[in-house]
Amino acid sequence: MYDYDLVVVGSANADLVIGVERRPAAGETVLGSDLAVHPGGKGANQAVAAARLGARTALVARVGDDPHGRLLLDSLSSSGVDTAAVAAGGAPTGVALITVDPSGDNSIVVSPGANGRLTPEDARAVADRVLRPAPVVSAQLEIPLETVTEVVRLLAPGTRFVLNPSPPRELPAGLLAACDPLIVNEHEARVIAGDGALGDGPEEWARALLALGPRSVVVTLGARGAVTAEAGGDVTRVPSVRVDAVDTTGAGDAFTAALAWRLGLGESLPVAAAYAARVGAVAVTREGAQASYPTAEEVAAL
Ligand code: RIB
Repeated sequence: MYDYDLVVVGSANADLVIGVERRPAAGETVLGSDLAVHPGGKGANQAVAAARLGARTALVARVGDDPHGRLLLDSLSSSGVDTAAVAAGGAPTGVALITVDPSGDNSIVVSPGANGRLTPEDARAVADRVLRPAPVVSAQLEIPLETVTEVVRLLAPGTRFVLNPSPPRELPAGLLAACDPLIVNEHEARVIAGDGALGDGPEEWARALLALGPRSVVVTLGARGAVTAEAGGDVTRVPSVRVDAVDTTGAGDAFTAALAWRLGLGESLPVAAAYAARVGAVAVTREGAQASYPTAEEVAAL
């Protein structure tokens, strides 16, 4: 019996969000909506999404000792996330500057702040208490890459490692080999596999990524669902649910969290991805990242 269903290692940001009619070009100024400040960050988002679905979840992260850090700790605690492994101090809390256009699409610039100070030593300090008593550990790349590789090294045998390499960068072979699955959108797939390595469609992208060494791959396609691929197994197209998108911010994090949790419950990759697509579909119908995440009952009602 595990202490947690899912442990997330990753970033926690204050999201400073402005709605815009269109994004400015270089050298241009546009007016936008009033500023909204939401709790965000890919790691904290995943943890909140999983906890809201009912998963026993812990987050390993670092925030600043400041009001943004307290905003994040409040959001995590009130969603039921175990924050004992969230360190505070060392730098200001990470900030994401986000614009959202009328179609719900977002663009994001992150200042990592305290996320950049989440060290391999921080991971070692919580390994026995938090990382090892989990069937699934999930990470992203808004924290230092050496911390993510150390997390993989510390995992108990049998713990499944899920990686959303966002923002994307070239990955060491050892890290790729641990991913089960590697979860990417089209943009991330292009950076990791290299434009030339990708074929015509998402099934081909999934095969090209699989050839780099992960045990399994999920390519997310937004409103078009996802493609799953497993080493030595099938490539499967997973449908999404048609909804009216208001704000896509954090929907990918909700997808990853739901997928990781359901894999830990023993579901197959395509079945878990189909559930995760429904969670992501609910999330895009509401504003913000963490504020948009559904309960299991809301997913069932979709
Ligand atoms: O994936 C969405 C998240 O990306 C935002 O919450 C923002 O903080 C950035 O980390």
